[in-house]
Amino acid sequence: MTDSKAANQLWGGRFGAGPSAIMTEINASIGFDKRLWKQDIAGSRAHAAMLAKAGVLSAADNAAIQQGLDTVAAEIEAGQMAWNPALEDIHMHVESRLAELIGEPAKRLHTARSRNDQVATDFKLWVRDAIDQIDAGLVAFQRALLARADEHAETVMPGFTHLQVAQPVTLGHHLMAYVAMAARDRGRFADARRRANECPLGAAALAGTSFPIDRAMTAAALGFDRPTANSLDSVSDRDFALEFLSAAALTGLHLSRLAEEIIIWASQPYKFVSLPDAFSTGSSIMPQKRNPDAAELVRAKVGRLLGAFQSLAVVMKGLPLAYSKDMQDDKEPVFHAVDTLGLCLAAMTGMVETLVFNTAPMRAAAASGFSTATDLADWLVRAGGVPFREAHHITGRAVKLAEEKGLMLHELALDDLKAVDARITDDIYSVLTVEASVASRTSHGGTAPSQVRAAIAAARQELGL
Ligand code: ARG
Repeated sequence: MTDSKAANQLWGGRFGAGPSAIMTEINASIGFDKRLWKQDIAGSRAHAAMLAKAGVLSAADNAAIQQGLDTVAAEIEAGQMAWNPALEDIHMHVESRLAELIGEPAKRLHTARSRNDQVATDFKLWVRDAIDQIDAGLVAFQRALLARADEHAETVMPGFTHLQVAQPVTLGHHLMAYVAMAARDRGRFADARRRANECPLGAAALAGTSFPIDRAMTAAALGFDRPTANSLDSVSDRDFALEFLSAAALTGLHLSRLAEEIIIWASQPYKFVSLPDAFSTGSSIMPQKRNPDAAELVRAKVGRLLGAFQSLAVVMKGLPLAYSKDMQDDKEPVFHAVDTLGLCLAAMTGMVETLVFNTAPMRAAAASGFSTATDLADWLVRAGGVPFREAHHITGRAVKLAEEKGLMLHELALDDLKAVDARITDDIYSVLTVEASVASRTSHGGTAPSQVRAAIAAARQELGL
């Protein structure tokens, strides 16, 4: 499969023979780090241009390198690169192909550079692009939620605690809770991006270089805010990947909660939502079935996101400075997390856009379980000057009575309510419906339709929609 006889052409000067086949296999990262090819070529371009400006490389060599890299990029883009595990990684593939194409100038490219600062730079650039891609996915998710929240700012559904009906809320309010979560997720990614945006290139192997390089120039050329401060840290740091993975894990965790809710809502006892054909599947034996597979898979895949963080954290734990080959194993968890999260975000966005909300069962469930009991207690506080603890007790007795009679609170006769507490008047009926209940919760961030509309407007403004 690979030529393991000859010593490696890039680092094999002191080697008499090549590695064993197993060594080649365990050592090679090209199978996955080929995904860094664009970043690797961008880094080489910036490095060569800087070396030329610094007088380390001739203008002619730089021109040959830039042209050669155009060709390498075109070949990789066209799927023409011959990937070879003996060449280990993306850095050596690009450099050796460049050498085949342009000869000697290619051999000067690695001056004042190491694969250690190269890979740190490539990977940071890749993670930065991934953050931008995930952010766009989160914005699309937020837009979908906002549209549905707007549509259902007044739709009443049960709010739950302990998965028991607690108080009526609006569906719009419930959906806006996920907009708030996604906003925090975006904040975490943005924060990670800001901290990651320092360029390791020029740290070389670990100690810096004796060549008169201009690290600010390469940093600027690659869109970094500045060069990193310490050469040892530059090649040892994978915080940027871990921060990315922790933000990805939390985002996935949020998605899994909505996925779980959709699964519950779609079940027969709830019937709060109907799944569209586009996001459900049938059963091979039960013709009546319509299963929430996409939501279940999102719920499941979040395990991989949490695992990706764990996987890289364990690679980094206890690693002495500076670079160790352990760090080559940093990429797969990140690549995998980006693919998984991108897919989960797209699936959740699609589901949110197309779910059919069944407002009648939602309203019926919202009215069940004496969900307006707190409204009764609040009325006693407001209209009767009753201390809340006492009002809570009185309401408890009213609930007990309703339960015994098999009625809802608003179905109790005034005389029955007066028997519970003489201070109750027929004004009580104005607060016992689910509509009145939600409309009354106008505190900042509350579930009243007026507050939901304000929250939607604020989120849209924040997003520039
Ligand atoms: N493929 C390596 C990685 O991904 C590149 C750095 C190799 N450096 C070294 N000193 N062997 O980490």
